[in-house]
Parts: sequence; C-alpha cells; structure tokens
Amino acid sequence: MTKDIAPATGRLGVLTPGMGAVATTLYAGVIATRRGLAQPIGSLTQMGHIRLGKRTDNRNPLIKDFVPLASLDDIVFGGWDPISDDSFEAARRAGVLTPEELASVAEDLGAISPMPAVFDPDWVKKLEGVDHVKTGSSKRDLANQLMADIETFKKENRLDRAVIVWCGSTEAYRPASAVHDTLAAFEKGLDDSDPEIAPSQIYAYAALRSGVPFANGAPNVTVDVPALIELATEVGLPIAGKDFKTGQTLIKTVLAPAFKARLLGVDGWFSTNILGNRDGEVLDDPDSFKSKEVSKLGVLETILQPEVYPDLYGDMYHKVRINYYPPRGDNKEGWDNIDIFGWMHHSMQIKVDFLAKDSILAAPIVLDLALFMDLATRKGQAGIQEWLSFYFKSPQVAEGLYPENDLFIQLTKLKNTLRHWMGEDLITHLGSEYYEE
Ligand SMILES: NC(=O)c1ccc[n+]([C@@H]2O[C@H](COP(=O)([O-])OP(=O)(O)OC[C@H]3O[C@@H](n4cnc5c(N)ncnc54)[C@H](O)[C@@H]3O)[C@@H](O)[C@H]2O)c1
Repeated sequence: MTKDIAPATGRLGVLTPGMGAVATTLYAGVIATRRGLAQPIGSLTQMGHIRLGKRTDNRNPLIKDFVPLASLDDIVFGGWDPISDDSFEAARRAGVLTPEELASVAEDLGAISPMPAVFDPDWVKKLEGVDHVKTGSSKRDLANQLMADIETFKKENRLDRAVIVWCGSTEAYRPASAVHDTLAAFEKGLDDSDPEIAPSQIYAYAALRSGVPFANGAPNVTVDVPALIELATEVGLPIAGKDFKTGQTLIKTVLAPAFKARLLGVDGWFSTNILGNRDGEVLDDPDSFKSKEVSKLGVLETILQPEVYPDLYGDMYHKVRINYYPPRGDNKEGWDNIDIFGWMHHSMQIKVDFLAKDSILAAPIVLDLALFMDLATRKGQAGIQEWLSFYFKSPQVAEGLYPENDLFIQLTKLKNTLRHWMGEDLITHLGSEYYEE
C-alpha cells in the first residue's frame, strides 16, 4: 500500500538554523525518549492515533505504525547558530529544563555544536553574544558555504536524508520585494547580495538546492515568497511555514471556531503576553515584533469571516501585545480577554490565562514537522504543504487561497492526507451508513 512512498531506511539528519531554547529542548526530549527517560508528549507522530474505516471497524493504529516515518533512533541533530555555545550550554542558558533533566542527557547535548551561522544584525537586532558567523564575498557565497555544510554533515554522520526546520530568532518584518518575485531574480539577488534577501532565505535556498526540504517555525516570510516556491516546485521538494502554533494562538484557534459554530458575536479580543526568554528579547525590537504581530493577528479574520458575518464580527477589535519581562524566562504568561455577545445582544466575557512553557509546547511540533516533511519528501510532494497547517500560526497556502486556521479543520486535513496517501477511505463524518438498513 505504501508503494509510492519510499521507505524510511537509514539515518535522517534534522538540522535547525537556530539552536536556542526550542531546538535544544527538542534535542533533549528526543534523546531522553530514546533512552526511556521521557515520553514524547505533545507529538502527534509519536503518540497520536488515526481512525481508519468505519467507527465499528475498531481500526485505530498509531500514526507512526500507519505511515512509514523515520524512527527517533535514526535521527541525528545538527544546525547553525551565531552563538557558539554547544547544545548543553545553550539549553542550560535557556533554562527550560531542570538541571537534573539536563544532566541525564548532558553528554549527547554537549556533542551537538552549531556550525557558524549566516547572520546579519540588520535582520535580528537584539541578540547578545554573537561570535560565530560566516563571512563571504556575497550572499551566493554564503549559500554555497551552507550547502557545503549540509554535504559534510550528511557525509560525516552517514545520513541518507535530511530536513531543515528554522528555529532561529524572528527576523525583522519586511514584505516580499522584487527580488523575491522569481527564482531568476532571487539568484541574481544572491550574486548581488541584495539587502532584501534575509539570512533565513539563504538557508532555505541552500536547503532546497541540496535536496533538503525546509520548514519555517518563525513568523518571518522566508519561503513564503514566489521565488522560493518556484524553486521548491522545480526541485520537487516540500516547503512549509510559518510560525509554530503553540500557546495563545493554539487556544485562539480552538475558541474562535466555537464562537462561530454557535453564532456568538465578538466585540473584542485583547491578547497580551509576558515572556522573558531570548525570543522575548528579540521580539522586544519593533521590527521583529511586527513579524509576530502580523502572524498572530491573521487567524481570527479567516476563522470568523467578518465579511460573511458582519453583524457578529464586523466591528471586532483585535489587539495582540508581547512584553519582554525577564523574570519569567521561558515561562510565558498569555492573557486573553474576549468580549462576546449572544441572544438579544447580551454581553459576556471570557478570560484565558495560559501559564505556558513556550519551548515545551514547541519542541514536539518541530519533531512532527521534521518527520512529516521527510515523509512528504519520500512521497514526492513538491512545494507548499498545506496539510501541515495544523502546526502553524500563519499557514502558507497557494496564492489566492485563504488559510484554514481552525485547529480541527487542520487536524482533519492532516489525517485525511495521510489516509489518502495510504489508500484508505477519507473520513467525512457523514455517518449515514450506520443507519442504513
Ligand atoms: N517557543 C514557541 O512557543 C514558539 C512559537 C512560535 C514561534 N517560535 C519561534 O521559534 C524561534 C526560536 O525560538 P526560541 O525560543 O528557541 O528562541 P531562542 O532565542 O532561544 O533561539 C533562537 C536562536 O536562533 C539563533 N539565530 C538567530 N539568527 C540566526 C541565524 N541567522 N542563523 C542561525 N541561528 C540564528 C539565536 O542565536 C538563538 O540561539 C523564534 O523565532 C520564535 O519566535 C517559538
């Protein structure tokens, strides 16, 4: 049944540009899981089941037993960072995991050191301790250096395949420009070191030219530009983005569909956050915050459709704030105040106070994306992978389409994609067959 999906034989490199809180929490969790010290909680690929056939069939395998995914034992981690700390030191600094947890994986983490990064302080302003950056004669030269890194990493670790997931800092908000219009313009831009080409785009280019799929976990546009979509399609590789959907937006995309389902109106939705990790510090810069704001604001419009329901959502006020507050470290607190209204326009309020651990929520998403991007590559998928919208705040979709932001539509889309690839019936939830004579 899996005849058109190449098997997941051999070793898979998971490379992350950015080896900070999220990436090192991912590495530590996978290493601990392999040793039986932890469970991969939050990971759909590891703990999720998928129903097949009718409800009466009792077929509900684990997803990892249904589709041919790479095994955690076959993953080799690596990446790039402009800060030279090894992953043990970076994880210790990030302060997500306890000293005991870190001690149990210290040796393995210590062995994962970053390669020098392609980094430009114009794109990420508030980053301290930068000491590990490539120099090159042009952006093309930097892309070539990254391609050489990928090649060497694959050889040294005897890898069969690799995937790249951007876990780097949020870059400044800059909408796509002329250099992003076509692949030819982009490649000329690399030769000319066009200032509009972001470091993350140099990684994405290098990945795709090296035969490696690329997913983007930050809100910067990166592969969400025509030039890189063209490249992904040309080389026949998957791309996906953007911005891991972890905390506040996850809850938003669960609550908003409930209001719409019950035709409850929304007057306003005020979301604010305090966080004190390095991500929070980077987001304290208005240019980086702008990337995040754009990504966080988009979800309500597409779910609530104010143009279709002007009486319910036409005047909704939506505001998102992120405040850097060092004492909290990675332990973010996200508050939502939602002013809703119901029958005869009576007002009601909902308050959400999510005391989240950012990287604990993000790590399993990176794992799932890495494994599903590898699966998609072996399935021969090229270009945008909308079925992975489930993981993103601001899912990349084909030009002219609005994204599906409702979490449960996204999950249905993901699972139906897997069923479809494996030759199983799609589940529509029609359910009339149970009532036929
Ligand atoms: N944790 C979450 O819940 C969450 C959710 C959505 C998005 N994200 C995004 O994931 C990314 C990582 O988050 P984090 O908490 O690990 O941040 P972090 O600051 O701990 O780590 C980011 C790392 O990226 C490195 N970096 C910056 N520019 C780079 C470049 N050009 N090349 C390679 N490395 C580079 C930094 O030195 C740093 O070590 C951020 O962009 C964040 O916005 C996180």
